[in-house]
Amino acid sequence: MKSQTLKDTATALFADNKGLLAMDESNPTCNRRFASLGIPQTVEARRAYRELIVTTPRLGECIGGAILYDETIRQQKRDGTPFIKVLIEAGIVPGIKVDAGAKELAGHLGEKVTEGLDGLRDRLAEYLQMGARFAKWRAVIAIGDGIPSRGSLEANAHALARYAALCQEVGLVPIVEPEVLMDGEHTLEQCYEATDELLRTVFSELFAQRVMLEGMILKPNMVLPGLACTRQETVDEVADATVNCFLRAVPAAVPAIAFLSGGQPAELASARLNAMNARFKSRLPWAVAFSFSRAIQQPALEIWKGQDSNVLAAQQALYHRAYCNQAARAGQYSGAMEKK
Ligand code: 13P
Repeated sequence: MKSQTLKDTATALFADNKGLLAMDESNPTCNRRFASLGIPQTVEARRAYRELIVTTPRLGECIGGAILYDETIRQQKRDGTPFIKVLIEAGIVPGIKVDAGAKELAGHLGEKVTEGLDGLRDRLAEYLQMGARFAKWRAVIAIGDGIPSRGSLEANAHALARYAALCQEVGLVPIVEPEVLMDGEHTLEQCYEATDELLRTVFSELFAQRVMLEGMILKPNMVLPGLACTRQETVDEVADATVNCFLRAVPAAVPAIAFLSGGQPAELASARLNAMNARFKSRLPWAVAFSFSRAIQQPALEIWKGQDSNVLAAQQALYHRAYCNQAARAGQYSGAMEKK
C-alpha cells in the first residue's frame, strides 16, 4: 500500500483551510439542474459549464481538490487544454466519482444500494494514469417507517469499504460518502440516530477491509432535521448535534471530515460549518471541512443560465462561495460576508 502517498494527498486537499468542490454530478443530475433553469441538456453545455468552473480565477486559493465525473475528466477547454491540466496548474488536485449510482436494494422497499464494484480495479488504474489522485463513492440512506434497515446499512457500508480498499491499493485517496438524506419529516434526533448507526457500521466495515484511516476522507451529511420537519433547529444546535455525533463515531486517525451540503441553502451550509469550527475548534481531532456541490455551485449556475455573457459574474459567485466556506473552516465566516 502506498501509505505515504495517500497521507500526502489527504493533507494537500485540506491545507490552508481549503476544501473540496464536488463537480461530479452524473449526466442525468446535471441535466435536471440545467432543465430547471432552461439551459440546454447537451454535452457541449455541460462542457462549457465545467470550463466555467475550472477556469474560475483564484479558485485554487480556497479549493484543494475537485471531484470530476467520467465525462468531465475526459473533456477539454474550448482551446483544447484538458480540464485535468487546468486544475493541476491552478493547484487543485483532481478526483473522480467512481460509483455507478444507487439502485433499488432487493427485498428492501424504499432503500438503495450503491453499485460499481465489478471492474473497479481496472477503472481506478485508468483514472490514476489520467491524473486523478483521489476518488469518491456515495451511498444514500433514507429515513422512513422502519428505515434504514440493518440490511441496507450493512450492504452499503460493505460496498464503501471494498471500494476504499481498492482505491488505497492503487494509491488513490478514497472519499467515503455515506449520506443520510434530508428528504422527509424526520426530526434532528432521528437523523442523529441514523447517522450514528450508519457511521459505526461504515467504520466497522472499513476496519474489516483493512482500510488505512490516515489515508481516507469521510464525506458525511450534517445532522439535520428533515426538510419537511416542522421543528428546524438553530445553527448552533445543528453544529452541536453534528459534532457530538461525529466525536462519538469517527476515529481520530481520519484526517478530515468534509461535509456534503445535501440541498441546504448555500449560506446556511456555510453558517453551520462555521459554527462547528468556532464552537469546537480545540476539541476536533480531524479537520472539519466541506465537499459541497450545490452549496458552492448553485448560485453560479443560476447566474450563468447557459449564456457566455454571464460567465464572469458566475465565476465571481462561485469564488465567493468557495471563499466563504474557507472562512467557515477557520470559524471566521459571518453573514456580513454575504452583503454584496
Ligand atoms: P451536495 O453538496 O450538493 O450534496 O453534493 C455533494 C456530493 O458530492 C453528492 O454526492
